Amino acid sequence: MWPTQLLSALCLLAVAGAAEVKKPATAGKSGEAKLSEKASTLAERSAGLAFNLYRVMAQDKGVENILLSPVVVASSLGLVSLGGKATTASQAKAVLSADKLRDDDVHTGLAELLASVSNNTARNVTWKLGSRLYGPSSVSFAEDFVQSSKKHYNYEHSKINFRDKRSALQSINEWASQTTDGKLPEVTKDVEKTDGALIVNAMFFKPHWDERFHHKMVDNRGFMVTRSYTVGVPMMHRTGLYNYYDDETEKLQMVEMPLAHKLSSLIIIMPHHVEPLERLEKLLTKEQLKTWLGKMKKRAVAISLPKGVVEVTHDLQKHLAGLGLTEAMDKNKADLSRMSGKKDLYLASVFHATAFEWDTEGNPFDQDIYGREELRSPKLFYADHPFIFLVQDAQSGSLLFIGRLVRPKGDKMRDEL
Ligand SMILES: *[C@@H]1O[C@H](CO)[C@@H](O)[C@H](O)[C@H]1NC(C)=O
Ligand SMILES: *[C@@H]1O[C@H](CO)[C@@H](O)[C@H](O)[C@H]1NC(C)=O
Repeated sequence: MWPTQLLSALCLLAVAGAAEVKKPATAGKSGEAKLSEKASTLAERSAGLAFNLYRVMAQDKGVENILLSPVVVASSLGLVSLGGKATTASQAKAVLSADKLRDDDVHTGLAELLASVSNNTARNVTWKLGSRLYGPSSVSFAEDFVQSSKKHYNYEHSKINFRDKRSALQSINEWASQTTDGKLPEVTKDVEKTDGALIVNAMFFKPHWDERFHHKMVDNRGFMVTRSYTVGVPMMHRTGLYNYYDDETEKLQMVEMPLAHKLSSLIIIMPHHVEPLERLEKLLTKEQLKTWLGKMKKRAVAISLPKGVVEVTHDLQKHLAGLGLTEAMDKNKADLSRMSGKKDLYLASVFHATAFEWDTEGNPFDQDIYGREELRSPKLFYADHPFIFLVQDAQSGSLLFIGRLVRPKGDKMRDEL
């Protein structure tokens, strides 16, 4: 008797449990294949990397806006482990918390993850992504490294002669501009160390909303960079049903906006009032994000966001070194001999550059919703001061982007009284 009772009790629990589990946002209509176990593991590890890297960058006083694609940073680490030997290679895996995984699983898993999250057809988003490894002209890349890094990480390879620095920089910037259809005209104005290898990621990302903004609902407003410094920016507005949470204790609010096909979403975390983001950044961890997301409820929200392109370039070299990638960056210790067949390379810079376009475009939706009771008295989500945002993949939880918008482009507005 007892076992059957237990069994039915367990069944009830299972049913109750199943009912509570939120249905994945994945609509499945795009027919996206499920990720393999190793790709899912790397999705999770790259999300961990996202928060670690964001944290060290946020503490760097020289950094204002932040824009990182953790899956792309993860693939650059994959590249270093592919081209490195001994400690140089193992540190790259360790920064990704993948030290226990087999090399081959790291490369194929990351390749699968990257292909899935950057599949523009399935996701109906615009994400142009180019990755290049530049080496000094004295170095020749090994053919098998060129092949495997192209296969796994879509890396191109190029030699660059820094004796003519101006034209070297120009060629990097021209390539970035071509890769991004002109949206990212410049990766950098200068390169500090010209005797090593450079990793360059050039990206253009434009979220395509699951429910679009009306292109006419745009006007000029003030964005408060600080309490005493306001810039004029175009702002777009819409009201809809969104996952929303207001944390009264921590004095912040969050909203989750699905992107097309609901395969990913953009999550914004914003303090109630204008303040430096440090307080929120101290709270921000993978676990905390999960807790907050779990508290969200779908309700009417009137959202106002700055519109326009934000371009951000980071040289991640010192930040990755801060997380433990020290040998690859050290001219005397680096062993990147799988890249060139010799111990003649080190990593001088890791340029990670993105143009992120906040725009109104998205899919049409059921207009009848505006007549319905549910949309009465919406919560206001008025993003006119610095906020943190993330683009999260619905299936794997990996982060396509993590960043903060502190200073959008715009002219200083007249001081108000
Ligand atoms: C992208 O997704 C589509 C399904 O929507 C699939 O047919 C295609 O093979 C995918 N492309 C890549 C490169 O994975
Ligand atoms: C998204 O899908 C729509 C409708 O199918 C299409 O017109 C549009 O070009 C797509 N956009 C992107 C960025 O894939």
